[in-house]
This record gives sequence, C-alpha cells and structure tokens, in this order.
Amino acid sequence: MSKTRTQVGIIGAGPSGLLLAHMLHLHGISSVLIESQTREYCEARIRAGLLEQGTVETLINAGVGERLKKEGLSHRGVQFSFGGKRHRIDLSKLTGGRQVTIYGQHEVVRDLIAARLADNGDLRFSVLDAAVHDIETTKPRITYRDQSGTHAIECDFIAGCDGFHGICRPSIPAGIRTAYDRKYPFAWLGILAQAPIACDELIYARHANGFALATMRSTDVTRMYLQCEPDEDLGQWSDDRIWSELHTRLEQSGDLKINEGKILQKGVTAMRSYVVEPMQHGQLFLVGDAAHIVPPTGAKGMNLAVADVRVLARGLEAYYKKSNRDQLDRYSAACLARIWKVQRFSWWMTTLLHRFPEAEGFDAKVQLAELDYVMGSRAASTALAENYVGLPLEI
Ligand code: APR
Ligand code: PHB
Repeated sequence: MSKTRTQVGIIGAGPSGLLLAHMLHLHGISSVLIESQTREYCEARIRAGLLEQGTVETLINAGVGERLKKEGLSHRGVQFSFGGKRHRIDLSKLTGGRQVTIYGQHEVVRDLIAARLADNGDLRFSVLDAAVHDIETTKPRITYRDQSGTHAIECDFIAGCDGFHGICRPSIPAGIRTAYDRKYPFAWLGILAQAPIACDELIYARHANGFALATMRSTDVTRMYLQCEPDEDLGQWSDDRIWSELHTRLEQSGDLKINEGKILQKGVTAMRSYVVEPMQHGQLFLVGDAAHIVPPTGAKGMNLAVADVRVLARGLEAYYKKSNRDQLDRYSAACLARIWKVQRFSWWMTTLLHRFPEAEGFDAKVQLAELDYVMGSRAASTALAENYVGLPLEI
C-alpha cells in the first residue's frame, strides 16, 4: 500500500472540493484531493449556472475569475410570468446595486481544475472504493484503490466534498447526525439548446400546465426547464412536445417569442430539500452537497457550497497559522445559520411557482395572489431580490 501524508484530505472534485483545495493552497496548507470520476466527466457535467455576487467575488479574489469576468453574463433584473403577464424585479435597484452572473457550474469546475494543475496540486481522478478511517482521532486516513493498487492518505483533517451520494456523510455515526428532508412531487426536465435567447434576463413562469424557466449559457445557447413528473420518462418528451410546452408556459404574456433550435442535451433534475446536522464530526467536515441539497429554483446549490468552503478555509487557516481551533469547532453552526435561510428561500420560490398535484382551486388562487403581492409590494420585492442576489456571506 502506498502512503501519502498531507494536511487536509479532500474527497470530491466538484466545486466544493476544488475550491477548498485551491483556497488552502493560497493559505499555504497542503491537500490531496481524490475523485471517483474522470477529469473529463467532472468538466462536462451540466448543472445550474447562476452565481451570486458574493460567489463571483470569492472566485475573483481567489484568482480564478479571469474567464468568469470575460464570459459571465451580468444580470441586474429577473422576470416572472404568471396570470398572463410578465413582471420585472429590478434586482440592482432593490439591493443597492447588486447583481447575479450567469456562468455554467462546469466552467467554474474547469477553471478550478486548471488552477490546481498549474499550481502542481495533487488531484487524483478515477479512484475506487474511497473510505475514511479514524475520524474521531487526530490521525484520520483516507484509503482508496486504483489500477496500481491500494493507497492511503494520512492527514490532519478530512473534507467530505463528495456530494449527496458520497461516503462521508454516512461516516458520521447514525446516532449523532439528524437529517431534515423534504421531497417535492415534481422534477425539472432541463434542456440545453443551440438557440438565441428570447430575453436577456431569466424568466420564471408559473402556468396551469406547470412551472417553466428560461435561462441561458450565452446569448446563443439557451437553457430551459419544464416542471415534469418526478419519475418522468424522457422518451415521452419529443423535441416537438418540449418546444410546444415551452411556448405555452413562457409566452403566456403574449409579448415574447421563444426561439427554437437544436436540442444539445436533455435531462431530469430531482427536487429535494435536505440538510444534515451537524456538518462535522471529529476531524471530518462535510461541505456543499454532501451536507445539504436545495431544489434548483433560485440556483442556490453551488453558491451554498462556496459559502461553506469560505468558512472551512478560514477555520483551517486559523488552526494552522494561530493554533486556534475555535473557528473549526464552530464550522457547522456558522454554516447552518446561513444554510437554513437559503433553504427557506429555495423552498419558498419552489412553492410559489410550481403546480402542486393536489392544490387546485383555493391553493392555486392563493399562489397567484402571493405572486401578485410580491411583484407589487416594494417590501416583498426587496425580500425576494436580496435573497436572489445572495444573503451576506457572514451572517
Ligand atoms: N469517492 C470519490 N469521489 C466521490 C465519491 C467517492 N466515494 N462520491 C462522490 N464523489 C465525487 C463526485 O463524483 C463529484 O465529482 O464528489 C463530487 C461531488 O461534487 P458535487 O456533486 O458537484 O458537489 P459539490 O462540490 O458539493 O457542489 C455543489 O454541485 O451538485 C451540485 O447543485 C449542486 O451546485 C451544487 C454543487
Ligand atoms: C440555470 O441557469 O441553470 C439556472 C438558473 C436559475 C435557476 C436554476 C437554474 O433558478
């Protein structure tokens, strides 16, 4: 068995693990990162692509924002379509000039991998059977296999950045962790299409047929989502049916024309809210999707992951530079205070905009009234806007 010694062992090469490895490097802290998938897979995985201003600032300050500054699309407003009308929320006006940026999550992953490799970072892709050991001692270990044999990484801390289906969360003893879970009775059918955008801002639509969202990856590539069944069979969704539903749901105000184009990718995204508490045990720290999932309405997943990484990187810096473990000990509590607020917002946006199977009649009317109220009230629009652009990172 080969052995490597490092300060922080990281599992998972998503945004959480890669940004953590990079930020630790900036603080002079060593890490080894292992990932079960290939580099190509991680760089091609299409996910949401909306960055809060604080996320953009974090990436730029960490020196990985060059391409983001050039290619990211800044949005100062967001639109909502319901009841046959389209409304605009002026995000910047309501939040003292803040904005959001459209930049695909896989682009962030590409930038972070490139930075790590340029710094000679230790990234190990395509590993098998990762396991964590001795997390309750000061000498935790990660083991894994690859074609050349079995390997051990001896470290001071382990960062579980291995997403929702990873092995780190279950490594916290069952009696210690509590999961809070909400499943929704629908999913999103997402498409990526080579088609010019219809509007230069995002449009969230509430329609009797269900929710729809028009977003983008560039001015010529649209990303669109349609509410569908949780167990939806993609085979039932021909391109014609997809375009027809997108026209119906997104063009309800009569002043917008969705452009059709070649569909480059189709997929179904499950909708779930989930939090595990605490997010740490002994020397193991859970980061990002390993600890929490939000439904994609509002695109908070990656933004939450970046907020966790900032707290953990700062705690590790204090530990190594000042021999002070207080911040590390407060990691879970510090992250959860913000996470629950973002969970609330993602749940609220989801509830506000989707068709619930059992909720016709009274509930549908209340939903429309709430949307109307939010658009018409400065206080309610401001509440939406300040959550949408991102709550302060330190709360
Ligand atoms: N061994 C090694 N790697 C693993 C293992 C394992 N046993 N299990 C999972 N992984 C890897 C996955 O292959 C994936 O690349 O961990 C990585 C986790 O990455 P993400 O799922 O992207 O999670 P995270 O980095 O926390 O990013 C959060 O990603 O899922 C989206 O919507 C979410 O935007 C949010 C963001
Ligand atoms: C996306 O661009 O993929 C996106 C944007 C906003 C959302 C969800 C997804 O609310």
